[in-house]
Amino acid sequence: MTAPEQKTALTLAALGVAQPEQLASLFAEVRARFEAETSGVHDESGWKQFRDAWLGRKSGVLTQITDHWLKPATPELKRVVGQELNQLRSHVEAQIAARRVGIEAGADQAALARERVDLSLPGVSRPVGSHHLVRQVFQQIEDIFVSIGFSVVEGPEIETPYYNFEALNIPEFHPVRDDMDTFYLQLPKGAPTPLLLRTHTSPMQIRTMEKRRPPVRVIVPGKVYRRDNPDATHSFAFHQVEGLAVDTDITFCDFTGTIEYFVKEFFGPGVKTRFRPSYFPFTEPSVEFDVTCVFCGGSGVSAGGGTCSKCKGAGWIELFGAGMVDPAVYGFVNYDPKKVSGFAFGIGIDRLAMLKYGIDDIQVFFQNDVRFLRQFP
Ligand code: FA5
Repeated sequence: MTAPEQKTALTLAALGVAQPEQLASLFAEVRARFEAETSGVHDESGWKQFRDAWLGRKSGVLTQITDHWLKPATPELKRVVGQELNQLRSHVEAQIAARRVGIEAGADQAALARERVDLSLPGVSRPVGSHHLVRQVFQQIEDIFVSIGFSVVEGPEIETPYYNFEALNIPEFHPVRDDMDTFYLQLPKGAPTPLLLRTHTSPMQIRTMEKRRPPVRVIVPGKVYRRDNPDATHSFAFHQVEGLAVDTDITFCDFTGTIEYFVKEFFGPGVKTRFRPSYFPFTEPSVEFDVTCVFCGGSGVSAGGGTCSKCKGAGWIELFGAGMVDPAVYGFVNYDPKKVSGFAFGIGIDRLAMLKYGIDDIQVFFQNDVRFLRQFP
């Protein structure tokens, strides 16, 4: 007896089918075989094989029936074979399409189950950092000066003695250099110039004036270095903001007015300023700006009734050095000292931050203790 799957490879004559009545059971066998195979299809690749086995143009079961049963059929069988074959084709095509829909739905369900998000699980916490207090104070200072027409420039931390000293009217062997002893870089023999870590941001006065013609209004935030021994108010690396304004008609009043504006914006309207004579080789006259003590309100008396420990009873605290640009400096940058005038200042940021936020040891800025840093979110 011929197996059902082999029958479609043979002609009707070879199968012994000569009467139209025999065709119904023959097609029923094929359909039963189709139903049996359908139930074994569970995934995409199985479905493709199944589709090709039945509908493939070259050797699919329906093509075999067409080639072996329909085409060579006798005239009396042909019409019935054609009808049976059409019904079978409709059924097979519809079932194969439906099977695909079923498989896709199953795949979707499986993917959903796989990718399910459990909303009851605790989330991943990503702590947000914040700016260091020194960075925050830089920002406050920049905002104040930018609001009155200054722009912000930055410069190199490794400098030549020319920019750090000489062009600022500090020749070699000038005693002021002793106050600013610093770190020199070890360079190969024959290097064209010694290099050092800048001791202040003032070299940027020279670099800025070399590049720009007046009017100049800049501030320069940055790191500076000195061979100072660490204590509560000294660090070997600290931060400054330099200021420089040069134009044809800048007076001492512009200078004090600008500084006073800055101090009131930074500390609040309650504080007062004063200046005392000082000395810097690159400013003339030079001054030291003081502010009324922010801890005792300028009274010199602490909240407990004793002498204020921060200003030692003076009521004033020294803030920063400044002055009118020394005409000698203009000679280094090809400005005409008879036509231009200006002022400059250099603010120690770490000490300014200590004053504003009541911090009594500069070292905490560099220790990175999060318990300290978290107090200034
Ligand atoms: C200067 O550095 C001048 N370049 C400032 C200047 C600029 C004057 C422009 C005139 C015109 P001085 O050495 O005083 O000046 O330093 C300025 C500020 O830096 C000081 O007031 C102080 O706040 C801070 N400072 C100095 N040394 C240290 C240190 N070791 N640690 C922390 N802060 C310091």
